[in-house]
Amino acid sequence: MLMLAAFASACAAGAAPASPSSAPAATAAPAETAEAAAANPPAQTDGSAQSGALELTLSELAQFNGKDGNPAYVAVDGVIYDVTNLPKWKNGEHNGYSAGQDLTDIIKNKSPHGVAKLKDVPVVGKLIEG
Ligand code: HEM
Repeated sequence: MLMLAAFASACAAGAAPASPSSAPAATAAPAETAEAAAANPPAQTDGSAQSGALELTLSELAQFNGKDGNPAYVAVDGVIYDVTNLPKWKNGEHNGYSAGQDLTDIIKNKSPHGVAKLKDVPVVGKLIEG
């Protein structure tokens, strides 16, 4: 029985030599990257991304909307900010706008405060094409 299991897993490993994860992430199909992103990040509910090294497409960013325990991220000028813990962004909502989006136009052209408000907001990464 043990032998059979070992043989089976060796076969399985040998049967798929080309790992799909070796494909460059930035050029992968949107559906694929969204699926990959959906598999892990929102599980971290404290919302504090550590390094600022995150790279998300617009469709991946959408799940970071501050709902259901997900962190709340917003993109401005290609930079992704973490607004999860800001009192004015409770549940990922702020003056009628939701996290999980590129809000460059809104903060620059509609908000009363402009981008200066982002000065002390933690940066978690950047927005990439996809
Ligand atoms: C029409 C849209 C918006 C309105 C009316 C608005 C209004 C306000 C007001 C009244 C405050 C609190 C007073 C202040 O700190 O100056 C505030 C805070 C803030 N806003 Fe906006 N805002 C808008 C859009 C945005 C957008 C799009 C972003 C980000 C992309 C943003 C980011 C912030 C941040 C980070 C704070 C500080 C929050 C805190 O420390 O709790 N705002 N906003």
